[in-house]
Amino acid sequence: MSDLFDFRRRLDNYAVMGNPVAHSKSPRIHTLFAEQTGEPVHYEAIQVDPGGFVQAVGNFDASSGKGLNITVPFKQEAWALVNERSDRAERAGAVNTIKFIDKTLFGDNTDGIGLVNDLLNNRIEIKNKQVLLMGAGGAARGVLAPLLEQQPAQLIIANRTAEKARELADSFRDLGNIEGSGYEALENKQFDLVINATAASLQGELPPLPDNLLADGATCYDMMYGAEPTPFMHWATQHGATTVLDGLGMLVEQAAESFYIWRSVRPDTKPVIEQLRREMTA
Ligand code: ATR
Repeated sequence: MSDLFDFRRRLDNYAVMGNPVAHSKSPRIHTLFAEQTGEPVHYEAIQVDPGGFVQAVGNFDASSGKGLNITVPFKQEAWALVNERSDRAERAGAVNTIKFIDKTLFGDNTDGIGLVNDLLNNRIEIKNKQVLLMGAGGAARGVLAPLLEQQPAQLIIANRTAEKARELADSFRDLGNIEGSGYEALENKQFDLVINATAASLQGELPPLPDNLLADGATCYDMMYGAEPTPFMHWATQHGATTVLDGLGMLVEQAAESFYIWRSVRPDTKPVIEQLRREMTA
């Protein structure tokens, strides 16, 4: 008993904060990373009440916590709370990773690099490609800077509320060739890569897409994931996409980037993605 107690005391504490958070896969992913790398990491999920976020982070810091992941609905609050931000977090307007460094809270956002790494791992090229990003909410904003860093020929943001897409494109124009529009403006355009960053899949819905949207060899990527393909993934298969991916890889990749920020050790993501996929469909 006391041996176990001593062992636990020697682990560094990390957690994900969100609401709801009970079904978060982050504790499982980081536990698998810790086992794989031998890093002394203990990781748990902490449900935080609305209005209780700042206090919860303070409590975690006071208990010698080393780092946090932040998920819905606290990413913007985390952005406002931290003392320092990476450039990509600054741009994203949201923080999903906090590292406690002495008295400083360092905030980063690993969602975008998670998406890009998952695409690259799957041999999907972004450079010089026509890319469509659907959605103009927090999820879309979070991935824009890392996507533009890969230098697509053009990145179009399409959104139900077209004005939001145009505003978002305007605020990232200095990083690359980017435009915003409604879905009706996609008529007669073709894309090599289409990414769904809308909340439509959550509601079992699909953004209104023209039939001839996909170029030859196109990839469709839904940032959502589940045991079953999303409506957008079904649409992609029916409309001739060569590659159709869900967001499970992105989830593991963003976690790996957080792990690296905290531990300076990069876990091997492939076996963890495969393990999660097995557990999800079992
Ligand atoms: P998130 O943080 O997940 O991005 P959000 O900021 O609320 O959540 O943004 C949700 C995004 O999904 C928005 O781009 C929204 O479009 P509107 O701005 O027009 O509301 C988009 N969205 C939600 N449900 C949708 C649906 N059924 N079809 C198309 N787009 C949808």
